[in-house]
Amino acid sequence: MTTAASAAHLTPVFEQNDVAARARQVTKAYGTGETRVTALNAVDVDIERGRFTAIMGPSGSGKSTLMHCLAGLDSVSEGRIWIGDTEVTGLKDKQLTRLRRDKIGFIFQAFNLLPTLNALENITLPMDIAGRRRTSGGADRAWLEQVIDTVGLSGRLGHRPGQLSGGQQQRVAVARALAARPEIIFGDEPTGNLDSRSGAEVLGFLRRSVDELGQTIVMVTHDPVAAGHADRVLFLADGVIVDEMHNPTADSVLSRMRRFDGKRTS
Ligand SMILES: Nc1ncnc2c1ncn2[C@@H]1O[C@H](COP(=O)(O)OP(=O)(O)OP(=O)(O)O)[C@@H](O)[C@H]1O
Ligand SMILES: [Mg+2]
Repeated sequence: MTTAASAAHLTPVFEQNDVAARARQVTKAYGTGETRVTALNAVDVDIERGRFTAIMGPSGSGKSTLMHCLAGLDSVSEGRIWIGDTEVTGLKDKQLTRLRRDKIGFIFQAFNLLPTLNALENITLPMDIAGRRRTSGGADRAWLEQVIDTVGLSGRLGHRPGQLSGGQQQRVAVARALAARPEIIFGDEPTGNLDSRSGAEVLGFLRRSVDELGQTIVMVTHDPVAAGHADRVLFLADGVIVDEMHNPTADSVLSRMRRFDGKRTS
C-alpha cells in the first residue's frame, strides 16, 4: 500500500518526454521605476520535442527575450524554465555554461563564425571545446558526416567564412548547431540576413533536420514565409503569447498578422 503511495509520489510532476523546453509564469523585467520595461509577462509555454516552432510578433514584443530566457542566456525576474528535465532557473553560472554547451545549439542572425577557421573547423568547434572527438570514428563522426552531407557543404569544408556566400555561411552555422546533437536548437532570425533563395535553402534544411533527424528547433522570425516552414507558430505581443497556429502556411500566417495589425490600429 505504501509502495503504491510512494510510487505515485515519485511520478514526476511534469510529463517530460515530449517537451524539450518549458516555461511557467515567466516574467522578465528590465530596469526599475520609471524606466522599467516588462519584456515578458507571466508566459507559459511548452516547446514540443522533435518539432519546429516559430515565434513571431512585432518588434519589441519579447521574442528574443523569451528565446534568451529559455536558452539560459538571460535570467528571469520570476517564474521557472526547464530544458528537458533540467530546471534552468536556479542553476549556477558554471552549470548554466555546461547546460548550454551540452544541450543547446544556437543559430544567430549574424552567423557568428570565426573568420580564421575553415568551415569544418567552425562546425566542430563546440564539440572540440567540449572535448568530444571527431577523428576517432564512431557515432560522432558518422553523425558529423550526415550533417555535413545534409547541409550540402561537402565541397566547401576547407573554405573560410569570407570565401563562402551568406547562405553557405549560415548553413555552416546550422551544421555547427546540429553537429553536437543538442536537445534543442534556438535560432534568432536565422534567415534574416539572407536573400530569399539562400533563406529558403536554410529553412529547407532546418525542416529536414526536424523530419529526418528528429531535431527540436525554435526559431524567431518576422517572415511569414519562414514561419510557414514550422509546425507551430506562437504569436507574442507586449510580452504575452496572444495566439498560436498549427501547421501554418505563409498565407495563413500573413492573414493572422494582418488581423493583429488591424486590431492595433483600430
Ligand atoms: N537589455 C535590455 N535592457 C532594457 N530593455 C531591454 C533589454 N533587452 C530588451 N529590452 C526591452 O524589452 C522589450 C522586448 O525586447 P526583445 O528584444 O525581446 O524584442 P523582440 O520581440 O525580439 O524585438 P525585435 O523584433 O525588434 O528583435 C523591448 O521593449 C526592449 O526594449
Ligand atoms: Mg529580437
